[in-house]
Amino acid sequence: MSECEFVYFRGDFVPSADARVSIKARALNYGLGCFEGIRAYWNEDDQRLRIFRVEDHYRRLLNSCRILQMPIALSAEQMVEITDELCRKNEVRADSYIRPIVYDTVEAISPIMTEDGNEFAVFVQPMRDYLDTSGGITACVSSWRRTGENMIPARAKPVGGYVNSALARSEAKANGYDEAIFLTADGYVSEGSAEHIFLVRDGELITPTSQEDNLEGITRHTVLALAGELGRTVVERRVARAELYVADEIFFCGTGAEVTPVRGVDRRIIGDGAMGPVTRELQELFFKAVRGQVEKFAHWCHLV
Ligand SMILES: Cc1ncc(COP(=O)(O)O)c(C=O)c1O
Repeated sequence: MSECEFVYFRGDFVPSADARVSIKARALNYGLGCFEGIRAYWNEDDQRLRIFRVEDHYRRLLNSCRILQMPIALSAEQMVEITDELCRKNEVRADSYIRPIVYDTVEAISPIMTEDGNEFAVFVQPMRDYLDTSGGITACVSSWRRTGENMIPARAKPVGGYVNSALARSEAKANGYDEAIFLTADGYVSEGSAEHIFLVRDGELITPTSQEDNLEGITRHTVLALAGELGRTVVERRVARAELYVADEIFFCGTGAEVTPVRGVDRRIIGDGAMGPVTRELQELFFKAVRGQVEKFAHWCHLV
């Protein structure tokens, strides 16, 4: 069996090649589903795998199910057990990404959520950097606006909502940037295509509130806690586009992005164009915390 061969599918652990969804499924035709992205970190010293804030991710998945009215008869605890078993079956011994998804298997023409026909699946794959966490990245303000709370709620993770992210990220890449920054319909900074954004101005951390059409972020919450630990002031408030251009430092954070410095926005250099001191300090603590090396936050790291 190759690495991460098994997936959890329709109540069983099966080879990935056997996990197939019908072309008629509503999940495929209408994007009816919701998902999570979770990181697991392998520790060579004690030969253990630690999944970062796994219970929080599954609680958020169940919230997404509630928002979408897609009930699934599993608790967060049961989902954690399935995930543990999946990692054991695949003998995961590397930093990895876990992707749980709840999707609508109903084969019918009409975009409507129903009580029945929702399935839970999970796969795991090795993953290192999603963005360049050491060298930093460039970003542009997207011409695409973030989907609003009364369109496709961005505080959840609905499958179909990621068309919005894909449009913005594809446009950014086509224009030579690494990532996109969304504004809300009102024109204030929201988040990246798959990460939250923090600015540093005069030593103070600033980030848009969760009311600015962004995901209820787990890494965002982690960064807030770590910043507190470092004695940094964090202000959660509306952020105007032009504030990005005068920030001393900017970084993205997220499960995939971890803590990634932003070197430039819209062809303006941020700070001196390299990772700033506040970002560096936070990133160092973040990488220790996710690996269970910070006593106070060790409870975030679930041992498989
Ligand atoms: C749109 C969006 N924003 C932000 C994030 C970061 O959130 P979290 O730190 O909870 O993974 C993600 C990734 O999950 C995302 O897809």
